[in-house]
Amino acid sequence: MNTILETRALCRTFGAVIAANSLDVRIEQSEVVGVIGSNGAGKTTFINMVTGYLSPSSGEILFEGRSILGHAPRRITRMGMARSFQVAQLFPELTVLDNLVCALIGAEGAHPSFLKPARSPARIAACDAILAEFGVEHLRDDPVRAVPQGARKLIDIAMAMVGRPRMLLLDEPTSGVSVEEKFALMDTVMAAVRRHGVTVLFVEHDMEIVERYVSRILAFYSGKIIADGPPAAVMADERVRELVIGHHTRPAGSRRRSAQP
Ligand SMILES: Nc1ncnc2c1ncn2[C@@H]1O[C@H](COP(=O)(O)OP(=O)(O)OP(=O)(O)O)[C@@H](O)[C@H]1O
Ligand SMILES: [Mg+2]
Repeated sequence: MNTILETRALCRTFGAVIAANSLDVRIEQSEVVGVIGSNGAGKTTFINMVTGYLSPSSGEILFEGRSILGHAPRRITRMGMARSFQVAQLFPELTVLDNLVCALIGAEGAHPSFLKPARSPARIAACDAILAEFGVEHLRDDPVRAVPQGARKLIDIAMAMVGRPRMLLLDEPTSGVSVEEKFALMDTVMAAVRRHGVTVLFVEHDMEIVERYVSRILAFYSGKIIADGPPAAVMADERVRELVIGHHTRPAGSRRRSAQP
């Protein structure tokens, strides 16, 4: 197996708060890893550090064997690691297509100019392909502000995928999405990432979603990883049951669905 992402003794403090306490993580190529943990456990801090949005206090981060410590987010995206956000980061006044074009330009590292139009036929084709893959092509020319919440989350993830990353980090991809829509959203995203062989790490509070899609779970508590392994083992872990799962309440109206093969 090839390690795609590795952190060594990664630490981050905010005043007296230790948001990341010597995190040693190795993610292998093509893994689908779920990150669980109660509010404030350090999940977003971890994603922010490995994607360049937040500087670690100390430690090392390697992507495909190369240090990315101190790299700007854009540079990390261009190297092949993209992310989505806990709250979708979109341009509400632009159309869905133009949001994707902006994301693609960012991933290419290109600077739009008057001489080279941003909406080039090649870029539009790439964005249309992602829109079709994510089943939101009918929203293509709508301004994002008019798009429903569930579709916004999909578009945010599509923006991360449009530059064809090798690794994708999703911070709560189903937050704010209705219970009825959550599984459909994840089915769409996971089908796309499998098709392209993308390694995925996603933060999720809904244990049904985690159990259904991941091959490995990292359980965070108070800036530390308290369990790391196959879902069944992590879910059965005494400390995880006490410190993580006990903090998660299933939203009202949620119902159990049988796992897909
Ligand atoms: N910019 C910041 N300034 C100060 N403290 C911060 C900052 N970002 C995070 N923290 C603190 O670091 C800790 C970890 O926060 P983080 O956002 O990583 O948690 P999380 O696991 O993503 O939680 P949630 O499930 O609520 O999204 C918390 O105590 C939080 O208050
Ligand atoms: Mg968070």
